[in-house]
Amino acid sequence: MTKAKRQMQEDMKLIDLVIELLDARIPLSSRNPDIDSIAGSKSRLVLLNKADMADGAVTEQWEAYFKNQGLHVCVINSKNPADVKKINAEVQKACAAKIERDKRRGIKNRPVRAMVVGIPNVGKSTFINTYARKAAAKTGNKPGVTKGKQWIRLSGSLELLDTPGILWPKFEDQSVGLKLALIGSIKDEIMNIEELSMELIKMLDERYPGLLKEYYGLETIDYDKYPGKPEVAELEAVALVRGALMKGSEIDYLKAANIILENFRNAKLGKISLESPADYEAADN
Ligand code: G4P
Repeated sequence: MTKAKRQMQEDMKLIDLVIELLDARIPLSSRNPDIDSIAGSKSRLVLLNKADMADGAVTEQWEAYFKNQGLHVCVINSKNPADVKKINAEVQKACAAKIERDKRRGIKNRPVRAMVVGIPNVGKSTFINTYARKAAAKTGNKPGVTKGKQWIRLSGSLELLDTPGILWPKFEDQSVGLKLALIGSIKDEIMNIEELSMELIKMLDERYPGLLKEYYGLETIDYDKYPGKPEVAELEAVALVRGALMKGSEIDYLKAANIILENFRNAKLGKISLESPADYEAADN
């Protein structure tokens, strides 16, 4: 077991609730399934984060998917402080049994203690910063079990462990790595940018046909020039309309690739999800 995983299991002893952040655009690819064994019987809340960049209709399907698995779910944008209300309400539901138990024992208003976990870049620090901002006071070290741990009081009823738990993505198949690279969670330096952009073009053509054509105003795409490779023809067409040319009017594929990737990552292309529950059902059958 890795040191990080062991640490997380230690931290589990201190908390009531595991708050797992996933990227709403690729919820399963941005998830490490080990969390099920690490969390054990703790209450669970899944946050579909960066929902402001994902396709709302697909996010609804994911919400239902995780609810069906018996998990509590909230759809959020970690940069939006207003979403904290939704989370507080869901935390209360997720921890209803604990709250009830406390009541029976005469313990009143003991806050739920939670830990935020997720893969790098999913928004853990942003989440903690945004939601802790209003009630930023760190509650400091407390005697006993919490020794050495910092807690951030989010509200009267919720405290967060200051340090998030970092999970690593599971590269079970190539498509997981590809999607993580597309959302910018794997450094571009180790990727072939042209290949990456063409994989994105293929995904967009499948999921959102006509989107690229419309966004870039592609009037002519020379599909005949690249038989069986429409993505190359489309990349070239984007290069032409955006003036991505090198000396001698040669096409600058790298520049065009970067334009498309950037437009996708900053959501200029629109709210886009790269996977839906149906993809996984199809794979299961
Ligand atoms: P981590 O701790 O899990 O590693 O992730 P972190 O909070 O550092 O967030 C990674 C990036 O994702 C940051 O962008 C952050 O602003 C962005 N982000 C987090 N949550 C959301 C969300 O709900 N919606 C959107 N649109 N973006 C989100 P960055 O480009 O690395 O930094 P910055 O330029 O935004 O500061």
